[in-house]
Formats: sequence, C-alpha cells, structure tokens
Amino acid sequence: MGDERIFLVDDDITGLAVDAIVNAANNSLLGGGGVDGAIHDAAGPGLLAECRTLQGCATGEAKITGGHQLPARYVIHTVGPVWHGGGKQEPELLAACYRRCFALVAEYGLQTIAIPAISTGVYGFPKEAAAVIAIGEIRRALIDNPQLLKVVLTCFNQGTRQAYEKALKDKP
Ligand code: APR
Repeated sequence: MGDERIFLVDDDITGLAVDAIVNAANNSLLGGGGVDGAIHDAAGPGLLAECRTLQGCATGEAKITGGHQLPARYVIHTVGPVWHGGGKQEPELLAACYRRCFALVAEYGLQTIAIPAISTGVYGFPKEAAAVIAIGEIRRALIDNPQLLKVVLTCFNQGTRQAYEKALKDKP
C-alpha cells in the first residue's frame, strides 16, 4: 500500500529540501496569505515573476514552476476548492488537486514531494474529510508511481496531524 513512504512532519514546508513542494494557491497564482504567502516570501520575487507568465490556474488544476530561492527544486501550485458545505463538488475538486499534482510528479520523474493540507486553512475545508481524500489519492499515486519514494505531509497544526493519523489508520 506504500504507507511507509508517507511521512507526517511539523515543519514549515518552505524549508524542506525535496524535489517539489506543493503550494495551496488561489486562481490568480499571484500569491496570498497562508502557505502561499510563506512560499512566495521564501522563494523570492523570481517565483512571482514566473507565476505571472502562467495565466492563473483553475480550481482542481495544478501548474509547476521552479523553486527559485527555495531548497526545493520545483513548486507545484494547485488551487483547492473553497468549502461551501460540500454540495459544490468540493470533495471531487480537492481530489483532483492531488491527482493533478501527482500527474506532474510523474511527468517530471520526481521522487520526493511535500504537500500542505490543501484547502483546510483559509478555504475552510474540514480537516478530517480533507485528510481522508488526501490519503486516498496519495496511496493511489504511490501505487501508480513506483519512482515516487517519499510523500511528506506538513502538519502545521495539531488538528491537521490528528486528521492525517486518523485517515492513515483507516486501511483502504
Ligand atoms: N508551511 C506548511 N503549512 C502551512 C504553512 C507553512 N509555512 N502556512 C500555513 N500552512 C498550512 C495551514 O495551517 C493549513 O493547514 O497550510 C494549510 C493550507 O492552509 P492555507 O495556506 O490557508 O491554504 P488554503 O486553505 O488552501 O487557502 C488558500 O489562502 O493563502 C491564501 O492565496 C491563498 O487564496 C489562497 C488561500
């Protein structure tokens, strides 16, 4: 099942020296608060300059840029759904974010990736439901991408860590 390749850490994602870190961005790709703001602050102005050439990103989609001044080689920007109660395709769109990020991991032959809890901050997606979706898609990606050696999940708060630990206990 590959769970031994999933790692929960409490670190700031901007300091992780992995092949790619995932950014929980917004549709403009022009930066914001939360992890988006932290990544742009750490990457430097070159990241925003590169993002300006991408013409934004649809919800559920993902686009890749260089890592600029980050220790990570690449940043995969994905736009999660804003939570509106669950009746507007939010679960399907969140799952699509993970699938599109892993499609880029496969396309670029990346071996290590770090992912924040997409949509569970400003966008308000319930942490437990988001963690179940994340773990399900990550388990599928680890089966489909044998070159993917390590998926690091950053738990920036206790609620996120508990949600992932609970989701990992539920065997598929
Ligand atoms: N490192 C790792 N995780 C972080 C960091 C960081 N430096 N900063 C915040 N987080 C965590 C949050 O605690 C949360 O668990 O990232 C997760 C995602 O939260 P947000 O960053 O608020 O992202 P999201 O809920 O997807 O909302 C996206 O917020 O910042 C804006 O421009 C962004 O409009 C977009 C929206």
